[in-house]
Amino acid sequence: MDKIRIYGGNELNGTIEISGAKNAALPLMCAAILSDQPLTFNRVPDLKDVLSLNEVLEQLGVKAQYNSTTKKLILDGGSITSTEAPYELVRKMRASILVLGPLVARMGDAKVSLPGGCAIGTRPVDLHIEGLKRLGAEIELTEGYIRARAPNGLVGASVHFTKVSVGATENVMMAAALAKGTSVLTNAAREPEIVDLGELLIKMGAEIEGLGTDKITIHGKPFLRGTEHTVVADRIEAGTFAIAAAMTGGNVILKNADIRHLQYMIEPMLKAGVELSGDEHHVNVKRLRARLHGVDVMTEPYPGFPTDLQAQMMSMMTVAEGAGMITETIFENRFMHVPELARMGADITVHGSSALVRGVAKLKGAPVMATDLRASVSLILAGLVADGATTVHRIYHLDRGYEDLVGKLAGVGAKLERMKEEAA
Ligand code: EPZ
Repeated sequence: MDKIRIYGGNELNGTIEISGAKNAALPLMCAAILSDQPLTFNRVPDLKDVLSLNEVLEQLGVKAQYNSTTKKLILDGGSITSTEAPYELVRKMRASILVLGPLVARMGDAKVSLPGGCAIGTRPVDLHIEGLKRLGAEIELTEGYIRARAPNGLVGASVHFTKVSVGATENVMMAAALAKGTSVLTNAAREPEIVDLGELLIKMGAEIEGLGTDKITIHGKPFLRGTEHTVVADRIEAGTFAIAAAMTGGNVILKNADIRHLQYMIEPMLKAGVELSGDEHHVNVKRLRARLHGVDVMTEPYPGFPTDLQAQMMSMMTVAEGAGMITETIFENRFMHVPELARMGADITVHGSSALVRGVAKLKGAPVMATDLRASVSLILAGLVADGATTVHRIYHLDRGYEDLVGKLAGVGAKLERMKEEAA
């Protein structure tokens, strides 16, 4: 296991290149199951989650070729030799549940392990299952597995999601693309990653209307062809680095970031004293005043403030003037960064799903523990501004979702290094 040591106090100035989005790449990769022709993806981030999903796809018979230098990934679903995604692979990467819809749509049969919960919540998949049932899949849950069958293929239907779910929307969209007839998804998720998946499906021959709205209409096709697609830039990575620059007081340009996918940040950041500007190809982050101001933030489904930036925003509030209220409405246990930030001197009081953060003049470096992907990066951000050295342990969480985090931060002036964990 590795750890990262950060020496606080440096401003961040310069340009950071934003990678392709993890949460777009994963569903896009599962779409390879829908076609017997190869898909070529550009800008696929070199992340543990991508490699784990490649393992699952190869287990199904998909041929995967990934070049971590060119970030090009070729997936060939020409011969699916298995329809089972086993527990030992799915438990490593819960987004593997996204093979369920494509498998039952293409093969009429799927056996996928229930992903189980994770640190931030129970993460049920009932909405995925209900949605696929609406398309005619016969589903039973046995011994921790979801068994889905559609021997005569899926049939288009209306699918209403009782709760907005990114993954359930993606699973049902992919299945509906090969169903007979038309499907109308209501209360669908609207994230840019959903739009990116829809755009891929359209390039594969699907007919889809309403991408980016909460009503998506999909006219199913008998088959979908191979194509090429570039993964949308990672708005969560971009938002993370925007907060890092805001905290250290620097002036940073986020190359490839799309300002349209960060609208939810503009107003709270401006209130805090930071200006975000740019266009579809870059975002500029500029601190406007000596000290940041505390602001209130509530997480919501897109286009609201994303839960994946909640921990990072909290980190910024710990050193702002005044107080900020952070409310988490998406996951039931996403405040695990609070006790670790408190070890660095942060003043945070949690009441249920809200955390009141009272800004302090300075954080103090300390050894802290990473718990989940976004909580881990919030500790790195705190270390960038803390007095002295901060050591973040168990950083394998970071490798799941941030490509070359140390290199990107060091490239704009941060002082940090990755080291081997001493034997206990
Ligand atoms: C996706 O997870 C992202 N992961 C998450 O990012 C992100 O936090 C989340 O969407 C919300 O934006 C990927 O895209 C791979 P949901 P997903 O289904 O699809 C409940 C990160 O850090 N729910 O939108 O699993 C669920 O428990 C990760 O990159 C059900 O009740 O999220 C949650 O409370 C973390 N039943 C809420 O809905 C279901 O069947 C939203 O979950 C499905 C979800």
